[in-house]
This record gives sequence, C-alpha cells and structure tokens, in this order.
Amino acid sequence: MRHQLQVSDDPAGAAVELLVGGGGHLCITGGSTPRVAYERAAQLRSDWSGVDFWFTDERCVPPDHEHSNFRMANEALLAQADGAAVHRMKGELGPTEGAADYEREYEAAGEPVFDLILLGLGPDAHTCSLFPNEDAVAERDRPVVGVETPGMAPLVSRITLTLPVVNASRRIVFLITGADKADAVARAFAGAPDASAPASLVDGEVTLLLDEAAAARL
Ligand code: 6PG
Repeated sequence: MRHQLQVSDDPAGAAVELLVGGGGHLCITGGSTPRVAYERAAQLRSDWSGVDFWFTDERCVPPDHEHSNFRMANEALLAQADGAAVHRMKGELGPTEGAADYEREYEAAGEPVFDLILLGLGPDAHTCSLFPNEDAVAERDRPVVGVETPGMAPLVSRITLTLPVVNASRRIVFLITGADKADAVARAFAGAPDASAPASLVDGEVTLLLDEAAAARL
C-alpha cells in the first residue's frame, strides 16, 4: 500500500477535522459521500476567512439543479462559510466553455497548489470526472478539461480537474464508504497504476479515509 490508510467507523469525521482545521486553497469533491462531512464542518466552523474553495469537478447543469455538485456543497457548507472565496465551476456553460472558464479562473488566481484536495471514488474507480480509459485521464497539459460523455450516471457532460493539478496538491484525501466501493478501492489502491482505474493514478501525499466495508478487499 503506497498510501496512508485510515479505516474507521467514522471516516467522515477525519475529513471534517481536515476541513475545519484547513486553510488556503481547499478543493472539494461532489457526489453524495462528502455531504455529511460538509454539513458537520459547517456546524463546527463559522469563520472561513482566507479560505478559497475550489471544485474537483462539476456536472454540466445549472447551479440549482439536483445533480449540481455546487448545489450540494453550497447547501451543506458554502452558504454558511463566512469569509470564504468560492470558485464555482460553471457547469451551465457546457463542457468546453465551462472548462475554459475555470481554466481562466485558475490561472487568474496564480494556478494555486491546493493545500487540501478531498476526493471521492466511483464504483468504476473513477475520481473527479476522470472515467476509465477516457482522454481526460491522459491529459497532462491543461489543468481543467471538459468531458462530453461521462462513464457513469448522472449521464450529463462534465468539467473536471486533470491529474497534474490533483497530484500537485499538498494533501490528497479520499473519503470512501460502502461495500459497493470495495472492488474499486482494491483496483485503485492495491493494484498497479492504470488508466482503467483512474484513481490509481493519483499519487503524492495520499490518505485514504475508509470505512470497513469499503476497505474489505484491501
Ligand atoms: C461526482 C464526483 C465523483 C464522486 C464519485 C463518488 O461528480 O460524482 O466528483 O468523482 O466523488 O462518483 O460519488 P458518491 O460519493 O456519490 O459515491
């Protein structure tokens, strides 16, 4: 195991500690798993001055859409995060223009190295919106790209960070729970790095926050 493994009955609690104690550029994931961690972090910290929130990826829908990662994070945390700067991926622009817009925003901010990036894992071992064997997984020049056809539901185009930006982060943390992720966890973190399991290509200071069910095949 090349990463730091933390298996517990409350992996979200460890993610909450990192968020509440965090500062600088914090990049957060979408999906459903992190919601409870965002809600708990919002209850424990009210002053988020000096924090810039970034997103790992976004679905190409309006920000008030049920599939919007921004909507989930905003309801759970960002709307209450006083003093924070929030860099929203504008999914409503579509994959190509939305990625170009975020790339401009990232460059205008000086292409920051994230102090913390919180990632999820799909059952197909995708992370961000980097789906198995897709072109976006191989992208090494652009920090943000569009994904016309995602490999998993919701079947809407995406905007996603690319691996060079993810791997440059000072602290990389996966929050993964549930038996339905056990196979993907084994493929992503116990096998050889391979584009068929994009999360296996995430490297650097990586911590895995898992529950027993997600860690069952390690
Ligand atoms: C997204 C996420 C994606 C997510 C995984 C796991 O836009 O869906 O960024 O990478 O982390 O798909 O999603 P769940 O937490 O819902 O299982």
